Amino acid sequence: MAETNRIHDTRRWIRALPTLTGTPPPAPATFPATPAELFLDWLARAVDDAVVEPHVCALSTVDDAGLPDSRYLILKDVDTAGFWFSGSARSPKGVELQASPRAALAFYWRETGQQVRVRGTVSEGDESVRSRDFLERSVTARAVATASEQSRILTDPSEYDAAVSSAIEMFEGDPDHMSSDWRAWCLEPESVEFWQADSGRRHQRWLYRRDPEGLWTTSVLWP
Ligand SMILES: Cc1cc2nc3c(=O)[nH]c(=O)nc-3n(C[C@H](O)[C@H](O)[C@H](O)COP(=O)(O)O)c2cc1C
Repeated sequence: MAETNRIHDTRRWIRALPTLTGTPPPAPATFPATPAELFLDWLARAVDDAVVEPHVCALSTVDDAGLPDSRYLILKDVDTAGFWFSGSARSPKGVELQASPRAALAFYWRETGQQVRVRGTVSEGDESVRSRDFLERSVTARAVATASEQSRILTDPSEYDAAVSSAIEMFEGDPDHMSSDWRAWCLEPESVEFWQADSGRRHQRWLYRRDPEGLWTTSVLWP
């Protein structure tokens, strides 16, 4: 009985939390030819509107049993190829992307009540792209990326400290050392959906889809 009450109260408590409290900008008057252009317009607006960390997004992948997984990471670039992010090839996400290079990114900007969803195929950037991304990181970030057995069980925290300290020493002596595991990935979109909230629940949704010739078509979706 106590358990039922606790669950009931938890439900009421969660349901009472406010959502979609942001203030969306006006809907786009026209739609650019590509979703990358609209994304960059929205991102610039989000930065102007002081959205906190608008370049953080959730990356979803699937493991070899088809079980989806999501984690947040930092968007590094958007160009004509697609949406770029980076990490270790030996991490679970790296292993999953190697086996199944189809993925999705999702952004949510609370302050402007906007969501962007990107789906497509992921490819690895070449050596120049990944070394540029890696070498722009701080020494500590490079050392952690190199030394960490990311997402494996850490039985003894001192192992981590020792591995990172020795990697820091190595990078201080050889600042251009490149990790063989670091990857820059590019998600080439097949579809990108732009969503913004409406107080009357008539949320606005615009979908870009790439046709077989590579041209983008746009549609309005039901809320
Ligand atoms: C705001 C934020 C930004 C992050 N940025 C990155 C990133 O750019 N690259 C990365 O590999 N992990 C990043 N992480 C850590 C990932 O969420 C995740 O914990 C890690 O990559 C291991 O994921 P995996 O086990 O699925 O490979 C970030 C986490 C947060 C909360």
